[in-house]
Amino acid sequence: MTAIADPRATDSEDAPPDPGFLRELWYLVLPGGRLPRGRLVAKTVLGEPLVLGRGADGAPFALRDICPHRGIPLSCGRLERGEIECAYHGWRFDAAGCCTAIPSLVEDQPFQLSRVKVAAYPCREVQGNVWVFFGKDPAGAPEIPRVADVGEGGPRIAESMLLQGPIDHAVVGLMDPAHGPFVHRSWWWRSRASIHAKAKRFEPSPLGFTMVRHRASSNSRAYRLLGGVPETEIVFRLPSIRIEHVRAGRHVLGGLTAVTPLGPRETEIHHLIYWTMPWLTALRPLLRPFVRSFLGQDRDIMAKQQIGLAHAPPLLLIDDADRPAKWYYRLKNEYARATAERRPFVNPVKPRELRWRS
Ligand code: FES
Ligand SMILES: [Fe+2]
Repeated sequence: MTAIADPRATDSEDAPPDPGFLRELWYLVLPGGRLPRGRLVAKTVLGEPLVLGRGADGAPFALRDICPHRGIPLSCGRLERGEIECAYHGWRFDAAGCCTAIPSLVEDQPFQLSRVKVAAYPCREVQGNVWVFFGKDPAGAPEIPRVADVGEGGPRIAESMLLQGPIDHAVVGLMDPAHGPFVHRSWWWRSRASIHAKAKRFEPSPLGFTMVRHRASSNSRAYRLLGGVPETEIVFRLPSIRIEHVRAGRHVLGGLTAVTPLGPRETEIHHLIYWTMPWLTALRPLLRPFVRSFLGQDRDIMAKQQIGLAHAPPLLLIDDADRPAKWYYRLKNEYARATAERRPFVNPVKPRELRWRS
């Protein structure tokens, strides 16, 4: 019989972590396609106001979205030749956040522009996505995760959606294997009758765990279109990244899902899909509505969950279906402790087979 565990009552390691945000990590802030040259994008991430743009070389940058002169968001200004001109008095800032011009100064008013600076966040574009580092030590941070074997180009499909609720519930939903036949029930993906027992091997991997490569489940109808025998590996890693890597014959289909906290009660999910099979590219316009519909199912169920969570009920995590959620809590707790204590992170996940019906 499956044991039912109340994580708060039984095992403090599995307890939901402090709802704060993990720092000293890179977060996926937006797909690069949504940051065209010459445009400023304002975004609150981890509760911090950011303005994003592209410098003269096209590389993305992220600054604190507050003008150091009189506090107006820099995103109200405009981007010109890779520099932001503030909307209020025209002070200019480069991609590193350094002030380069104050138009109101006359010639005999010497002013050291270098004294004026906006906080700049480390910012990088990897496989077509813009990542921002939150923390003090970007050099010591874990590297930005990549989808293997799909090259450096951007995703073929990029969808983002706002989710109501805090990051932890979004991540737990992301890795929860048992909601598929109920939330994602549809003629093209799952039917309720398709529910069956599964056993999957899990191993610890950097900052998380991996469902080791296995043949894709036979009830995932969309996979049959791929050709070859699809074999899937699913990686989860902190802060909130899931990478599904499907190999079918000589081709690869990769899905990167990143859940990024905007604030304590608002989260954004980014779903990026990469593939190497040219024929699938021709079908892209047909695929996009399915991807949006799938993400919309997760968004809608989370919105309903918030109605109950508003009453702060105690919650249950059961084995084995909720084991990945327990691992997430352990990983998050350990990462928060390790960074606070300035010691190496020790992965708390042990190799194990998990069994559930979905
Ligand atoms: S408030 Fe930005 S230049 Fe004055
Ligand atoms: Fe889902």
